[in-house]
Amino acid sequence: MGLNFPNPIGVAAGFDRHGELLDELARAGFGFVEVGTINPVRDCSIDPALDRICLNLQRFHTRRAVCGAAGQPLVGVSVGGQRPSFDGEWAGGFIAAMHQLAGCADFFVLNLSRPGGPGRVAGADKSALRSLLTRIQHERGSCARHIPVMVKVAFDEDRHAKRAPLAVVLAEELGYEGVIAAFENWSSPGKAGECVARLVANLPSLPLIVVGGVNETTVGRYLAAGAAAVQVYSALVLHGPGIARRLCRAAAKFGEAVQ
Ligand SMILES: Cc1cc2nc3c(=O)[nH]c(=O)nc-3n(C[C@H](O)[C@H](O)[C@H](O)COP(=O)(O)O)c2cc1C
Repeated sequence: MGLNFPNPIGVAAGFDRHGELLDELARAGFGFVEVGTINPVRDCSIDPALDRICLNLQRFHTRRAVCGAAGQPLVGVSVGGQRPSFDGEWAGGFIAAMHQLAGCADFFVLNLSRPGGPGRVAGADKSALRSLLTRIQHERGSCARHIPVMVKVAFDEDRHAKRAPLAVVLAEELGYEGVIAAFENWSSPGKAGECVARLVANLPSLPLIVVGGVNETTVGRYLAAGAAAVQVYSALVLHGPGIARRLCRAAAKFGEAVQ
């Protein structure tokens, strides 16, 4: 992705929706934070959530620039849509958010994993998904600077244990910088780990961040399977901010074991 992550342990979307806890999450030792998800409409001048994120990210960005970026987490912004199908509003909202936050976000995430959203429907409209991803890739070129864009995709145990979701294949084909693979409610971390390993083997040039069931026991398994990084939500809620450093230690132990 061309980014320098201080460590591979991140905070998943939904926890710090408006970037209000960035200082605390930085102190806890996280390597990156995905703020949002926000669901902007085409005309972002009427989106208070976007304005709030913008202000908080600018503050964090300025402090990072003044105090030094070393060891500070990268900050990504998750952008989605509330519409029942992939229409022009999705791409328009995403591009508008990208323009507004270009100066202070390190990466963006197109969130296709919203429960009940069109990205989760079996047999969803494939051509609409392709045109959404193509349009965003095309229009992001008009942004003030090049910022990596990842796609967050939900992996369903019944449908995707052996076969990658179409959005992942398209993300690789169209040149997105990475995928956040969400394994929610899988029956075992072993099965999710096997799925990650298969994905990495099939799409070796696509950076993969894994989220879903990450804890001190499973983090090594996901990294061993080839994930570039992991994210937590539940483990942070259950165990508190100390989880960041414990997961970093578990990840480092795994790193020593493979050397
Ligand atoms: C209350 C709650 C809100 C969430 N909101 C979002 C969201 O806005 N965007 C998103 O992409 N994921 C959201 N998620 C999903 C998490 O980012 C993550 O994928 C999921 O919780 C699995 O990780 P975990 O097993 O560590 O909890 C949310 C999860 C929870 C529990």
